Amino acid sequence: MSSLPALLGARFRAAAELDPELRPATKPQFGHFQSNVALRLAKAEGANPREIAQRLVDQIDVADIAEPLEIAGPGFINIRLRADVLAAEAERVRTDPANGLVITDSPQTVVIDYPSANVAKQMHVGHLRTSIIGDCFNRVLTALGHTVIPQDHMGDWGRQFGMLVEQVLDEGADASALGLAESEALYKRAQARFNDDPAFADRARKRVVALQSGDPATLEIWRALVDASRRGLMESYRRLGILVELDDFDGESRYNDALPGVVDELESRGIAVIDQGALCVFVDGYAAPMIVRNRDGGFGYSATDLAAIRLRVDELGADRVLYVVDARQSDHFGQVFSVARTAGWLPDRVEARHTPFGMVLGTDGKPLKTRDGSTATLESLLDAAETEATPEIALAAIKYADLSNSLIKDYVFDLDRMVRTTGDTGPYLQYAHARCNQVLRRAEAEGYATGPVSVLGEPAEQQLALQLTRFDDAVQEVAAGLQPHKLTTYLYELAELFSTFYEQCPVLKSTDPVRASRLGLTQATKDVLAAGLDMLGITAPERM
Ligand code: ARG
Repeated sequence: MSSLPALLGARFRAAAELDPELRPATKPQFGHFQSNVALRLAKAEGANPREIAQRLVDQIDVADIAEPLEIAGPGFINIRLRADVLAAEAERVRTDPANGLVITDSPQTVVIDYPSANVAKQMHVGHLRTSIIGDCFNRVLTALGHTVIPQDHMGDWGRQFGMLVEQVLDEGADASALGLAESEALYKRAQARFNDDPAFADRARKRVVALQSGDPATLEIWRALVDASRRGLMESYRRLGILVELDDFDGESRYNDALPGVVDELESRGIAVIDQGALCVFVDGYAAPMIVRNRDGGFGYSATDLAAIRLRVDELGADRVLYVVDARQSDHFGQVFSVARTAGWLPDRVEARHTPFGMVLGTDGKPLKTRDGSTATLESLLDAAETEATPEIALAAIKYADLSNSLIKDYVFDLDRMVRTTGDTGPYLQYAHARCNQVLRRAEAEGYATGPVSVLGEPAEQQLALQLTRFDDAVQEVAAGLQPHKLTTYLYELAELFSTFYEQCPVLKSTDPVRASRLGLTQATKDVLAAGLDMLGITAPERM
């Protein structure tokens, strides 16, 4: 079943072969929607807009959905949905376990690359964004019936492990027992020595070779470091409430064995060429080539991502691969996708998409830093938020602030604003949910019936019902366009409409069937808010 605006659009198209470009009516007395299409046509044809509007009104049959169409002013067409139709649709949302969501009949396998942090480093603000956004995509697509496979492309391989392993040995540290903060501190000590102590740097380089050639003692320490980091990251993921599990980790090292094959194939097929000693692919439209094998024979980040995309398509069976990674890596992914298509590893039927996001700024408008000038860690941000609100509300505040901005924009981490229970915030939506629940609880205590939604005499009731019937539209839009703010905007409007409804329409003090109908609207609002918040990774408290 498509939404009422979609149905209206279809009727216009069927009768007059045009899109009515429906907009919400500016005032309740104009009905629910307005179309300016007659004005636009009149301009093009040099005709009288009111006459064109009249012609359209005569042609288009919407009697089963709307009141008779009205022409207003210079030639606007005003559309008022029938109250009984709106009531039936709202009732359908209320009684549907999926709240009116249309579950797909062609489920896809969607791989989502997130949060993909790094070994021996704490998660920083950038990882906060990938975690929150990636999880929202995961939840939205899962709710619509798709199979989502999170892939944590953890940075667990590379030259840095040479010095890390040497430092572990020198300090006699137990690598398997290191927390994230401890291993990051060890990393910093190793880095400092690498820069100052040539003998240490030399040992670190030799250790890289030992690691790459599979020396068992070296591998053991490397593995202990990786496992410890994974455990530490899992703790952060749990704290954030994201859905990634231990077996979703497929770090860079997973692809080691595949790299020579990937790179050889590119070279033998002439897709990659040697340039100044490195094996490169020159991709149209990019200033720098993509390096798949460097001068000393090592493979890097790009080759690894090529191997990963091949696995995601061939072995995981992906129909869609989403990379939730910050905007600075746009060129990298643009090149990876292009090369993978050329090589035939990414067939046309599979969509690969980088969903870039902007930076998190402090209230001073500069990239968020801690007091000592280093990049803010995720844990420090959560700690700070929890001094302002309970953990549940703090998390809602942070996630909502992140998702309610368009992804590509930088956003300001303004705790004071985020935790407010008024305005366009996560806590406000949680509060709206708790308020619906309070009304329903009182009704239950009085023994009042909830539902069916049957009478919608007041404009505020009708607007609320109409918004409820649009839940599916909002969710489908996020699934296709991957812009979470479409869902936050939808939910915020829903909460606002509920608030207006609650001010203008007595619920508990009215009598049946109006009371049951209003309680039904309250119930449906509560359910849609809870389902929508869940897709944002935000809990819906019963009381606040
Ligand atoms: N580890 C990288 C970082 O922290 C992100 C990896 C993103 N995923 C990928 N397939 N390259 O910036």
